[in-house]
Amino acid sequence: MSEPNFPSPEELQKKLSDFMKTQFGNHVSVSTQVSAAPEEAGGPGSAVGTGDEVFEFRHLPRDIKAHLDRYVIRQDDAKRVLAIAVCDHYNNVNYMRKLEREDEKKARETEYTKQNVILLGPTGVGKTYLVKHIAELVGVPFVKADATKFSETGYVGGDVEDLVRELVQGANGDVEMAQYGIIYIDEVDKIASSASTMGRDVSGRGVQTALLKLMEETEVPLRAPNDIQGQLQAAMEFQRTGGKPKRQTINTRHVLFLVSGAFEKIRGVIERRVRQGTIGFAAPPDGQQGGEMLEHVTTADFVEYGLEPEFIGRLPVRVVCRELSVEDLFEILQRSEGSIVRQYERAFRAYGIEVFFEEAGLKRIAELAAVEKTGARGLLTVCERLLRSFKYELPGSGANRFTVDVGLIEDPEKRLAELLEQGQRALAEELAAVAREFAQRLASRHNLKVELTQGAIAKLVERAVAENIHMRDLCAEVFKDYEFGLKLAEGTTEPLILTEEAVGNPDRYLSEWLVKRYRADRRTGEEQMASKSVDLCGDSPAR
Ligand SMILES: Nc1ncnc2c1ncn2[C@@H]1O[C@H](COP(=O)(O)OP(=O)(O)OP(=O)(O)O)[C@@H](O)[C@H]1O
Ligand SMILES: [Mg+2]
Repeated sequence: MSEPNFPSPEELQKKLSDFMKTQFGNHVSVSTQVSAAPEEAGGPGSAVGTGDEVFEFRHLPRDIKAHLDRYVIRQDDAKRVLAIAVCDHYNNVNYMRKLEREDEKKARETEYTKQNVILLGPTGVGKTYLVKHIAELVGVPFVKADATKFSETGYVGGDVEDLVRELVQGANGDVEMAQYGIIYIDEVDKIASSASTMGRDVSGRGVQTALLKLMEETEVPLRAPNDIQGQLQAAMEFQRTGGKPKRQTINTRHVLFLVSGAFEKIRGVIERRVRQGTIGFAAPPDGQQGGEMLEHVTTADFVEYGLEPEFIGRLPVRVVCRELSVEDLFEILQRSEGSIVRQYERAFRAYGIEVFFEEAGLKRIAELAAVEKTGARGLLTVCERLLRSFKYELPGSGANRFTVDVGLIEDPEKRLAELLEQGQRALAEELAAVAREFAQRLASRHNLKVELTQGAIAKLVERAVAENIHMRDLCAEVFKDYEFGLKLAEGTTEPLILTEEAVGNPDRYLSEWLVKRYRADRRTGEEQMASKSVDLCGDSPAR
């Protein structure tokens, strides 16, 4: 067999560059990065592509629920339904992979209807949070996207197939692993088609149709058609491996799809159906509201809302997440392992500040968050508003602990002012101690007594704070000539009292003190001399 007549990578790059230039001018450039194909990166013996070592699902629904309970408060129904759907899905994956190894034909013929899931519920109540933690536990790659970012053609917005390729990235290039990933698409209520007046039209119907294929089973090319660099790499690999066929697509048969949306206005649809006496699969009794009403949603309601029957039909598992009450919000703060309380504690600790949240304070935060009507997201909104200025003002202020209690929540500004004042005092005390220590050292080096007056200390503290420098450096700077000057006065018993004036004009203060010392010493010397001569005079007659 003759080798295909293929250009070298350099020729190929040049050709492509020329082509791009003629098409787009100098705005586009082509660069090549020759990297090992993912399959090769693992090397021989790596688990990639060989089957069983890659991924084995071994969880029970109750294990999954228990794991979710650590992070997600309430939403028990949602946890259960999701846990079952995920277990079913991955147990089937296990089964199919085994079958594929043992009897490929039978594997191809075996049917399985995927249990893709639709999650409904208001904003911020844990939909995304649930899915994220499930993917983490199961250990499969997980991709999340908003339905609104896609467009039908993939031209203006993203291409839905990019999601599948992102799974490969999420699996560090492991295509086999990517095929068992979870794709989570948020805001599907926004792709309801324009036939309905409910949803916003983003050529929603087209996006729904594009998703249909993925949700069922399709082969997605590993490289997007518009990914020039990827195509180039593929071509080079082709040449390097002598044109050996290599897996270039990802199959979506085992990818689990979860979609979610707030579906705010679907309640109106359900209510209307109920009012009109259309007995649905389970018509809700009168007087039900909010989340409870959502639980009675039927396929017909989704279709009326603007979802295509084929689309909603491929989402057989329905999960409703409930609104969170004040108590739930309190519990999220208190008990969830992902609580923002931990986040705030960490953030303040990074500045050496300990923050304590009192139970009553947490209750009050939960109450305020409930008013926001954004679910658990409201907690962060409230805490941010409350503690923003604490995060800005306290670091470096000398304050090293505070408590979030009802008092702080009622009047955060007052508390902040108190903390800053306390902090200032503590800081001043610390700085004063450093200044005294400096004086002490100066004294012991020159065998003298050196003292700082209160006025001098206050002045030094004021400068250290204003100029934002370390007290030790400030003292060294202010008294830099004292090291030499005091050599002239070593051993003097008279203490050197450093006053506010000494800080203001240290050199003059020192020289005046030295002159004074010198005169005093001379006087003493003269007196001594004089007394000695008196002694001598007195003595002489006796001699
Ligand atoms: N039930 C809950 N238990 C614990 N934390 C929660 C819960 N619900 C939400 N949170 C917290 O709030 C954040 C936002 O929640 P999440 O992203 O799951 O909202 P969502 O339901 O997906 O809302 P949206 O419809 O706006 O996307 C989470 O990251 C989590 O910290
Ligand atoms: Mg979400």
